[in-house]
Amino acid sequence: MTSMNNKVALVTGGSRGIGRAIALKLAEHGADVAILYAGNADAADATARDIEALGAKALAVQCDVSDYEQVAAAVARVRETLGPVDVLVNNAGITKDKLALRMSPEEFDRVLAVNLNGAFHTIRALYADFMKRRSGRIINIASIAGVMGNAGQANYAASKAGVIGLTKTIARELAPRGVTCNAIAPGFIETDMTASMNQAAFEAMAKTIPLGRVGQAEDVANLAAFLAGDGASYITGAVIHVDGGLYM
Ligand code: NAI
Repeated sequence: MTSMNNKVALVTGGSRGIGRAIALKLAEHGADVAILYAGNADAADATARDIEALGAKALAVQCDVSDYEQVAAAVARVRETLGPVDVLVNNAGITKDKLALRMSPEEFDRVLAVNLNGAFHTIRALYADFMKRRSGRIINIASIAGVMGNAGQANYAASKAGVIGLTKTIARELAPRGVTCNAIAPGFIETDMTASMNQAAFEAMAKTIPLGRVGQAEDVANLAAFLAGDGASYITGAVIHVDGGLYM
């Protein structure tokens, strides 16, 4: 598949999990891919090598997405090395779960800073490029928790609901320029993030999924690749669920 030949994608949190799967899927479709990663250089290098093995160019840049200056510098490096970004995937995300009663204001702020401010930062850093070039795709990874709420995730659910509001606003602002912005709301996907959940709770929850299985990172990556491709040019401001039917 080569439908994304000569396109450049930037995936935040692309070193592992869902971000890694998206980075590899876009490379499979022919895109050159930059990944921003928080701290694990070995994992980021491994993903970059796997992207190159698919015949695409790769670049891994360490960057805390909650810090705008770091994001602006990382975006500039991607632009210089691979060229202007065509596809932005805001995937970096963290959880700090506990009942709101015990959640510290710092725990609330940090999750918002990474999950919501981080998505704004990359969009802000690329906004003028997208506008001038009159093309571009923005894909934000939200969550079913941002739509339904989830006990123990006041910070996370608020951040993901925020990502949905951000998505719809950017979709409206950039639609006249031919740039689309959509959100993917995954349900339960098997990654390091869900591996850290209480396993009994995870298995009980898995039984409630209509399609009868937890999702794989590739289930999300398939949709991201579609939204990044030519076939999705008339879709913007959408929140698309990839959750085995959990939310309907
Ligand atoms: P993960 O924990 O395996 O990966 C998260 C990625 O984000 C890592 O690559 C990490 O380096 C990066 N990251 C974290 N903080 C960062 C920071 N400050 N700056 C830059 N990068 C940072 O998680 P997973 O499961 O792959 O999640 C990816 C996205 O999907 C997240 O936004 C998550 O909220 C969302 N999601 C995941 C679900 C799941 O069931 N796994 C369900 C719904 C949404």
